[in-house]
Amino acid sequence: MTIALCSDHAGYELKKKVIEHLHERGIQTHDFGTYSEESCDYPDFAHPCAIAVESGKFDCGIAMCGTGNGINITLNKHQGIRAALSWTEDIARLAREHNNANILVMPARFIDEETALRIVDVYLDTPFEGGRHQRRIDKIPVI
Ligand code: RB5
Repeated sequence: MTIALCSDHAGYELKKKVIEHLHERGIQTHDFGTYSEESCDYPDFAHPCAIAVESGKFDCGIAMCGTGNGINITLNKHQGIRAALSWTEDIARLAREHNNANILVMPARFIDEETALRIVDVYLDTPFEGGRHQRRIDKIPVI
């Protein structure tokens, strides 16, 4: 499994912890940036990450900014992306079970590291339920 990651400066420190955690789980990663805590603009990293996940080159993505909102809004501009802003384990579980989210988004300034890593684990270990949820997902793209 290979996971694409992206963040802005507000999510940089948490992203490093998430990458470490993924490597400990034996998961490969590709970091689309940013690569420091220097102030930057989240769309510069969200768009390349979204395009890469959409292309099928990665199994899924994990993204974060301060609130999660800016990066989440940007990722969801891509038709093939279902990015889910998740700040609890239950929301992350439902993002997989019901929304088959292909990018997990977290609010780095509003959750602690321990919570974030638990959210990552729940997201990765929860399968999509399919059924009625697949029908709803099929109706999401703007046609
Ligand atoms: C950066 O200060 C902050 O605005 C950004 O990380 C994010 O919260 C935007 O939605």
